[in-house]
Amino acid sequence: FRTLDSLDPAGKRVLVRVDLNVPMQDGKVTDFTRIDAVVPTVAELADKGAKVILLAHFDRPKGKRVPEMSLAQVRAPLAQHLGREVAFAEDCVGAAAADAIAALPAGGVLLLENTRFHAGEEKNDPAMAQAFADLGDAFVNDAFSAAHRAHASTEGVARLLPAYAGRCMEKELDALTRALEKPERPVAAVVGGAKVSTKIALLENLVSRVDMLVIGGGMANTFLAAQGVDVAKSLCEHDLAGTARTILAAAEKAGCQVLLPVDAAVATEFKAGAASRTVALSDIAADEMILDVGPDTLALIETAFRTAKTLVWNGPLGAFEIAPFDKGTTSAAQLAARFTRENGLVTVAGGGDTVAALAHAGVAQDFSYISTAGGAFLEWLEGKTLPGVAALRK
Ligand code: 3PG
Repeated sequence: FRTLDSLDPAGKRVLVRVDLNVPMQDGKVTDFTRIDAVVPTVAELADKGAKVILLAHFDRPKGKRVPEMSLAQVRAPLAQHLGREVAFAEDCVGAAAADAIAALPAGGVLLLENTRFHAGEEKNDPAMAQAFADLGDAFVNDAFSAAHRAHASTEGVARLLPAYAGRCMEKELDALTRALEKPERPVAAVVGGAKVSTKIALLENLVSRVDMLVIGGGMANTFLAAQGVDVAKSLCEHDLAGTARTILAAAEKAGCQVLLPVDAAVATEFKAGAASRTVALSDIAADEMILDVGPDTLALIETAFRTAKTLVWNGPLGAFEIAPFDKGTTSAAQLAARFTRENGLVTVAGGGDTVAALAHAGVAQDFSYISTAGGAFLEWLEGKTLPGVAALRK
């Protein structure tokens, strides 16, 4: 595909798809990795005299205008990290967007409201893609981490305008290819987090590409429930039990060892400092929920990490944002960092929450490579063609 090297953006309206789906707590951004990742592309285009128009989604508003999911919250931190002013338009298409673009000086940066406030975005509705295309002269995709979505702002619009890969997109594809195209075996993968329904299906392919799969977080609860464990009030998608069992069968067939929690830290409420206890899986009370892995699980994880030569990690093992339930994720992250230093383990991690969790554990700088992508990183690892990348190759 073409990169910014073949785009002369001076005086042009350049639509740039970025990923500003950043972790946020009480309206404050808690990790700036994705914001920092888009700075090179935005700065380069602005310095070359483009009108830089940023398209991005935030969270999953499902086609409705949800005020708590407004990208207005990201404008100030973005401006600060860019070291330039950022204008904001209250809609990502139509008159509000067009007027803001008309008012934007060359070299200026404009952030458009959440693309997912329109149902046409996730449906990749041609009318939505055209509405985006109407706003620009060229399209740059710098959101590797959203490239697994065939949405109007990632895939559709790329087919309607001259399209280019941004610097972050280039760097991600380069780095992942270098680290993981022919990984040293055994390869261990850690998959956790709360996005169970959108990630679980890809595990079926992943098990044929890795030698060990450590499952944690809400994802693990779904697998445990599928195996008959009473997970009580835990975050769990019971209707995915069949999928979970299919994945376990696929893993067995592929010779991939699956590591599920054998003990857990549980509590009756999900809040900081909640009274918690460590229990065997058979001892979870009816009013309790699993919020972290326990020490016996960590011991199994340590053995897996010690034998692995390559480790890929997406998704925390527990509710790491709230103490004491950060313990499992933090300890595992520190083990991974130690083996990176001492054993030459190649460690590649990705995903908004994962990056925040590694930073929280104080080990982000010890990992071999940190990707801005979560789901996209896993799909890339599965060997899938990412629609957002494919559209750039048209
Ligand atoms: C991510 O956070 O992985 C990307 O921004 C994509 O978000 P999504 O999983 O809601 O599509």
